[in-house]
Amino acid sequence: MTTTTTLATAVEMRSVRRIYGDESRPIYALRDVNLDLRRSEFTAIMGPSGSGKSTLMNVIAGLDEVSAGDIRIDGRSIVGMDDTARTVLRRRAIGFVFQSFNLVPTLTADENIRLPFLLAGIRPDDAVEAWIAHLIETLGLTDRLHHLPAHLSGGQQQRVAIVRALAGRPSIILADEPTGALDTRTAREVLTLLTLAAREYEQGIAMVTHDPVAASYADRVLMLADGRIVGEYRGLDPRRISELIIALQEPTA
Ligand SMILES: Nc1ncnc2c1ncn2[C@@H]1O[C@H](COP(=O)(O)OP(=O)(O)O)[C@@H](O)[C@H]1O
Ligand SMILES: [Mg+2]
Repeated sequence: MTTTTTLATAVEMRSVRRIYGDESRPIYALRDVNLDLRRSEFTAIMGPSGSGKSTLMNVIAGLDEVSAGDIRIDGRSIVGMDDTARTVLRRRAIGFVFQSFNLVPTLTADENIRLPFLLAGIRPDDAVEAWIAHLIETLGLTDRLHHLPAHLSGGQQQRVAIVRALAGRPSIILADEPTGALDTRTAREVLTLLTLAAREYEQGIAMVTHDPVAASYADRVLMLADGRIVGEYRGLDPRRISELIIALQEPTA
């Protein structure tokens, strides 16, 4: 028997199809997508507008149904799972970072960070408290914990959302343009933290981005076009990523 080191798979997508519209005018948002997202791996997802990036994130999150195919989260199929079971799995296994922060306006930063634990009925243990404290300090939120989102800058709100997503150490973090509203320095800190979360804390990260510099932090870059994964790359610098994106956007003759 040979020994191979394989990273645990957080998300498996097999022949996933998502068709919108009716039969006479179908819109193919995802066409037979096969994709594995592993723990400890940071994946950037890029592609032109309308290529299916948001649909991909939404079906993994169980926020949208697939038309065909299977999606497994931590080995469990979410296709055909009832809403309650899916919600429980989502809370345990998936962390979200949206472009629009999605903080609860009536809760302080600290309460927002702890909300997923409250919803899941989990009391953070000492190790989790230490991890949350580390995240809060790393992202420079220590003196902002008791502020409401309205009293935080956009960058600070996004950092709160990122701490919230990382706090429960989910198998996979789905991040949709997480650095889109941040200044360069804060964006770099966020990307470094996502890299660290993957490498040191075995979290899988799937990040949609239009920014070649942000994508260059990832272990691999997936290119989506017209509902298909058309490329998978590793070790690309931002310039090469830009070239690939530009090539995808050029109309084919
Ligand atoms: N709810 C919906 N109803 C109809 N068409 C949709 C819906 N959501 C997305 N689409 C279509 O599916 C395709 C992929 O969309 P989307 O996943 O949002 O792409 P991206 O995030 O890459 O811009 C597009 O053609 C879009 O117009
Ligand atoms: Mg989108």
